[in-house]
Amino acid sequence: MEKFKTLTVVGTQWGDEGKGKMTDYFAQQANIVARFAGGDNAGHVIKFNGQKHKVTIIPSGIFNKDIVNVIGNGCVVNLKSLVNEYNKIKETGLELGELYISDRAHLIFDVHKEIDGLQEEAKGANKIGTTKRGIGPTYQDKVSRIGIRLGELSEPNFKERFYSFMEEKNQYISKIYKSPKIDVDVEYKELMRLFEIIKVNVIDTGEYLYNEIKAGKKVLFEGAQGVMLDIDHGTYPFVTSSNTTANNASTGSGLPNKMISNVMGVVKAYTTRVGAGAIPTEQDNKIGDYIREKGNEYGSNTGRPRRVGWLDCVALKNAIRTSGIDYAFITLLDVLTGLEEIKICTEYELNGKRTSIIPSTNSQYEKCIPIYKTMKGWTEDITGVKTFKELPKAAIEYLKKIEAVCGIEVIGFSVGPDRTQTIIKRNII
Ligand code: GDP
Ligand code: IMO
Ligand code: MG
Repeated sequence: MEKFKTLTVVGTQWGDEGKGKMTDYFAQQANIVARFAGGDNAGHVIKFNGQKHKVTIIPSGIFNKDIVNVIGNGCVVNLKSLVNEYNKIKETGLELGELYISDRAHLIFDVHKEIDGLQEEAKGANKIGTTKRGIGPTYQDKVSRIGIRLGELSEPNFKERFYSFMEEKNQYISKIYKSPKIDVDVEYKELMRLFEIIKVNVIDTGEYLYNEIKAGKKVLFEGAQGVMLDIDHGTYPFVTSSNTTANNASTGSGLPNKMISNVMGVVKAYTTRVGAGAIPTEQDNKIGDYIREKGNEYGSNTGRPRRVGWLDCVALKNAIRTSGIDYAFITLLDVLTGLEEIKICTEYELNGKRTSIIPSTNSQYEKCIPIYKTMKGWTEDITGVKTFKELPKAAIEYLKKIEAVCGIEVIGFSVGPDRTQTIIKRNII
């Protein structure tokens, strides 16, 4: 990264835009990759040298031995997932980058996962469709100021603290949900075993990142989820429990926001969503099925089929505003090959009026009818394309239309899952 000290990569839709692939690609020119939000609800797939890899809580820079990876204070960490994931990647025989975890990151315990499931069940028809990784209950504890942070585990009175924390959880699950109590001795032992493995990697990551940036190191901030799943700016309540926008790269890493200067929005060439909540452009039909199969649109984390729709520029403009996105990178463009027509939603119609604003409630959002611009499709195989000019005319027109409607520059596009299937239109780093 020559022009900028930091680059932030965020998803602009409902997650699964290909952030992992883009992070891995741009990380080749960075020194550090830092995650700033979410936990192992994320699922980032990366492909290179014919091998597919998946990470959930470990930053996507881990596959490069020269990159330091940081799990920031804005993340929530399940130590079991972290250690299992690390061991699994190590088994590939690749030389991995270093990994640091913030002493201020909150811990996800099994009881949080259980509460996640119980709270979802209790919602009945209104369930969010969470990943059941305990994300919501852990952030609930953080905001309620009762959560346990990694830094606490080395304190002399930690055992007491953990037992009293678990006593409250056991009361909650047994009294409210009539669920059996959890054996705290077993949990404590397992927690301490895992902590022994990672404790040397636990540091004040904010201080570390600040000093490294000041010393001229290049940092890539890797977002998880997407802007439409942001707790404030997404489609509440059908969202995750953290701020997924680029603004959180500062708070979630312990840095001043002026260090977050360069934001790339990852835009899937169409829309997908896992879980509940409205999608105005949803194609619950043959077109949706075609895209789902061609794009292998099944959750990399939970295996659930992703709901599919046309690209939604109203959602994209919301992401551009709330994340300060400087340029867009279009992914999975190859998946649209073979469609006779491709639609782009440019506006919505709500209660008989045109609008480019996303309503604040799901019931109003469900009423939004997309207004489309219909574009010509293409049939040529583009998976081997190496330059923008090689694209079929209709694909070039499609990218230009996105730029025109959203007022954003498309600086590159991706035509397949592999690292090499990445085309840079204008070099920004
Ligand atoms: P993330 O959560 O944003 O990192 O995205 P996921 O990894 O969950 O989902 C994106 C999926 O699309 C992964 O399986 C990637 O390997 C794959 N992928 C990424 N870019 C492309 C692309 O340009 N074309 C195709 N066909 N697949 C892609
Ligand atoms: P990546 O980083 C897609 C969705 C869930 C559910 C909602 C809340 O791979 O893009 P949670 O478990 O976070 O409480 O679930 O958010 N969700 C994601 N959808 N990609 C993700 O991550 C997601 N992380 C959470 O499906 O609708
Ligand atoms: Mg994903």
